[in-house]
Amino acid sequence: MKFFIDTANLGQIKEAHEMGILDGVTTNPSLMAKEGIKGKKAVEQHYIDICNIVDGDVSAEVISTDFDSIIKEGKHLSKLHEKIVVKVPMIKDGVKAMKWFTDHGIATNCTLVFSAGQAILAAKAGAKYVSPFIGRIDDSGWNGVELVQQISQIYSIQGYKTQILAASIRSSLHIIQCAEAGADVCTCPLDSIMGLLKHPLTDIGLAKFLEDAKKFA
Ligand code: E4P
Repeated sequence: MKFFIDTANLGQIKEAHEMGILDGVTTNPSLMAKEGIKGKKAVEQHYIDICNIVDGDVSAEVISTDFDSIIKEGKHLSKLHEKIVVKVPMIKDGVKAMKWFTDHGIATNCTLVFSAGQAILAAKAGAKYVSPFIGRIDDSGWNGVELVQQISQIYSIQGYKTQILAASIRSSLHIIQCAEAGADVCTCPLDSIMGLLKHPLTDIGLAKFLEDAKKFA
């Protein structure tokens, strides 16, 4: 399973990249706004800055909702950098636009996916990634990881090539569960990635090894 980081914070992206475990980045308009970036040019430069840090795909989300505008905006975003993947919402014009992007060699990430039916449409449109929102599904009393399992089973039976990108991750446990459920990619906040490091027996064991090492230093 690939690891993407789900942030527009350059410091966090650098920190994950420097660990050597980062395969890409996802952003969304809320994450960009959180960084205080204002204006079209500043947003575009920020995408380029992110692309210059990481090695893999960087999702940049369109904010248009009708077919013609999604195409115009997505084409522009895709020209900013070769690593840009155009993130398109799961709406009727979004599906139509993803098919157009697929036919014209532009990679897409279908966002705001909350059901298996939506994931089938994303695959039919040729999206490179489909993003089921695990945490938001859990928040509404459903089971996000079960949706990843269901999509994984359907894609496997049907031979769909779209990669399952588990999004809206809330915890380190979510990452492990998504790996078990068959996600191809998990996009995570930095603290959920760092949480995977933690185990008290590691800390206790290391302290003992370092203490014993003093005996022969
Ligand atoms: C990913 O592509 C989404 O933008 C993101 O994971 C949404 O996460 P949230 O539910 O924590 O906002």
